[in-house]
This record gives sequence, C-alpha cells and structure tokens, in this order.
Amino acid sequence: MNPLSTSAPRVRQVNFRFRCIGCGDLSDAASQDFRCSRCGDLLEITYPQWREDKPSAENLKSAWSQRRLSLSPVDLSGVWRFRDLLPALETAPDATRDDGQQVITLREGNTPLYELPQCAAITGVPRLFAKHQGTNPTGSFKDCGMTVAATFARHAGFRWVGCASTGNTSASMAAYAARGGMRSLVLVPEGKISWSKLSQALDYGAVTCQLRTDFDGCLRLLQELVRRAPVYQLNSINPFRLEGQKTLALELLEQLDWQPPDHIIVPGGNLGNSSAIGKALLEMRELGLIARLPKLSVIQAEGANALVRTLREAGGKRLVSVQAETRATAIRIGNPASWKKAAHVLEATGGACEQVSEVEIAQAKAEIGAEGIGCEPASAVTLAGLKKLVKQKFVKPEESVVLVLTGNLLKDPDFTIDFHRGDLFRGSADESAGARLNPLRRAPIVLDAALDAVMRVLEQAEKS
Ligand code: F0G
Repeated sequence: MNPLSTSAPRVRQVNFRFRCIGCGDLSDAASQDFRCSRCGDLLEITYPQWREDKPSAENLKSAWSQRRLSLSPVDLSGVWRFRDLLPALETAPDATRDDGQQVITLREGNTPLYELPQCAAITGVPRLFAKHQGTNPTGSFKDCGMTVAATFARHAGFRWVGCASTGNTSASMAAYAARGGMRSLVLVPEGKISWSKLSQALDYGAVTCQLRTDFDGCLRLLQELVRRAPVYQLNSINPFRLEGQKTLALELLEQLDWQPPDHIIVPGGNLGNSSAIGKALLEMRELGLIARLPKLSVIQAEGANALVRTLREAGGKRLVSVQAETRATAIRIGNPASWKKAAHVLEATGGACEQVSEVEIAQAKAEIGAEGIGCEPASAVTLAGLKKLVKQKFVKPEESVVLVLTGNLLKDPDFTIDFHRGDLFRGSADESAGARLNPLRRAPIVLDAALDAVMRVLEQAEKS
C-alpha cells in the first residue's frame, strides 16, 4: 500500500461495538481519529452481547486459572489470557492463522504484586502493595495495551502505526510494530523525554521525529496526520489500547483472590490508564467477578495538574488545560485526551484526585527504591499522593491500598543520578525544600583503588 494514500483499511468487529462516551451513539466501525462521527467525542469499546448472554464469573475464573498451565503464546500473555473480556479478532472462513498466531505478543502482563513494608511504615497503612507494571517487556504498562491495539492494526491491514509520546508509548509501540512486521512513526517532544525511552524506539526500528513542541503539540500533529495518511494511531485515544490495559486490574484481582482492595492509586498523564482500570472495575462488578468497587484515585504532578483543576475549578464539566512542567516527564501533559473517561471512573468508584510537588515525587521515588523495587518518577506520584490522602483521612490506616507503579527504574536514570548526586533541584525554586531529602541520598563515592580508603567508607556507612 502507498503510505500516503488515504484509503485506509478499517477494523471490523465481531463481539464488540464502539460507543461514543458523549452521545452514546453505537457504531460498528471507528474513523481514523477514534472520535464519534456525530458529536466528536471519544469512543469506547462495549460488549452488547453481555446483556443477553452474560459470561459466568465462575467459568471465567476457572478458564483464566487453567490457562496458566498452558504453553501457548496467547495463554502465556498476561493480557490475552483474559481474552474473554477483550475484543475478538474477526476470522475469515478461509483464515490460515488461528487466534493465537494472529496475536502480536511479547508475553506482556504477568506483573508482580509486591508488599511494601517500609513504605507501609512511612505512610501508616500496613496493607500496602505495589502492582509493578515496570516489569513488562519494554518496561512500562503500555505493553498491555499495545499488544491488543497493534494486533488489531495488523489485522486491519495497516503497514504503518504511529504515536505521540512522552517516551513509554513510543518504546512499546516500536517493539510491537517490529514484532508484528509493521513500520512505526514516533513523534516525541524534543529534549523532553528520557534517553532510555528514546533509545528503545531507535533500537526497535521506529522512524523517530523529535518535534520542537511539547507532548500536547505532538498529539495534535498526529491527529492531523492520521486523517491524511493510513497510519494507525496507537495513542490511548485508540480504545483497543484501553481494553488491553484493563487486564492490569483483572490480573490484580486474581492475585488478591478476587477480594477487592479498598483503594487503587494510579498516576495521571493523558488519563488513558486510569480510564482503563476504572472500566475494568466496573465491568468486573457487572459480571459478578467482584462484589464491591475499590476506590480508584488519580495523582498528578503539581506542574501537570489538568485533571485536578478540571475537577476543582470546573466540576468535571469542561477540561481546564495547563502548560505542563515537571521532571516526571512521562506525565508532562497539559491537555489530557481521556479526561472525561477518567472523571467518569473517579466518580463511579468514589476515588480522589490529588497533586504532588516535585520534592514529594523525588522523596517517594527514593523510598520505593529503598524497598529494592524502584520505579520511574511518574510512578512515584502514587506513594506521594497516598501520603496526602492519608493526611486527609480519605485513606484510613486499616484499609488496603494498591499503588500502580507504571514504569521501570531504568526508564529514567538521569533523574535518579541527579537526585543522589544532589543535582536534581540545584538552581531551582525547590533547592531549599529539596535539601531536606539529603538523608535519602546515596551519592557515588570516587576513591583511589586502595583497601584502606574503601574500609573507611564502610566504617562511615556503618555509623550512619
Ligand atoms: N506513568 C508512566 C510511566 C507513563 O509513561 C505514563 C504515560 C503515565 C504514567 C500516565 O498514564 O497517560 O495513561 O494517564 N505515558 C504516555 C507516553 C503519555 O507517551 O508514554 P496515562
């Protein structure tokens, strides 16, 4: 196919329909920008047959646990193992590939649920857990959505996929495109994403454009581009992404033996992930997989607090966008696309929305690191936010809390090294506030290769 021809192939559905979150219009096909043809709002995927023929909760649970013994790629994927609640691929009568072979998978999902004893002591919430999405194949939660959306892109016959990104989406998209034999186009803000994430996109063979704008500018441009060229957009506006990301919540509940935690806390950027987790919780309750809803709370950086302001200043009725600025570059987003979906799931689950400062993020990140787990700065907003929610008595000490750690520590080594060297806040307005974190710093020590010198360091460390 000529990449510049505008006659793009379309995805056709089998067990699902698209529903507009604004006017409720149902459709069988989605346009290239995944917006409602009537009112322009975002689309979500819905499963109308659940109304007449609801899958049984007990059958689902037993199928999902049986598949854990299987060695087939779809069952080894922590996403496709839950395929009963995902859009099904349309199979032509003469198809030569079965469902398993059609799926592009890197064995995503299957992420651990860790206890956080030290952070539990710090926050005064003993039942504190981390669902670590940073152990996914490309190091972030994006892989769970990408396996589904990339699979549908290839199934629909697209040769090109594209995204705007603060880094993790592009790393993930590039990997899945490469595995699926597709080309990928990455638009990232120049100088505003970590080298680790950029290096992933390059290594996986993406055509990578560093645009002189911010994430919001990259996303705007991508939206225009997909109307002109048959490039399948893989941002979280694409509802197939959110279906895959739903499985985070399914896997979490399975790990908790279907006993819902009281709270799930997630970072908020473009607000796709919170929307996906919330959708999963509501669907699990509808299907009788859980009896009550955990409260889903979203935490943003103070400098990128569009949802916080949207809820506080506009009652969730219209988006208050901001000029985003934060060292947690993954969530440096001022105009979040899925704000309406996120506002809906916060309301439906009774969750909170809070913001945290740069110093609070750095402190929380160091505290999670000291548990031997580590995460990227955007993930650490969850612990920082929890401290605030405990202070406000929104979270009570006897309640159970799951923090969603969205990305791996190695995604942003510059942040970690700057923090431990004492450079993170140097010359910024946070310099004196940041100084109170000095006891958490572990700066590298440069020495001559002499035994005595190392012994002295050891003695000193023993005293501190
Ligand atoms: N945490 C990390 C590590 C992220 O990379 C992102 C988003 C988020 C949290 C926020 O999730 O957007 O669903 O609310 N990163 C996107 C990207 C925007 O391009 O990689 P969200």
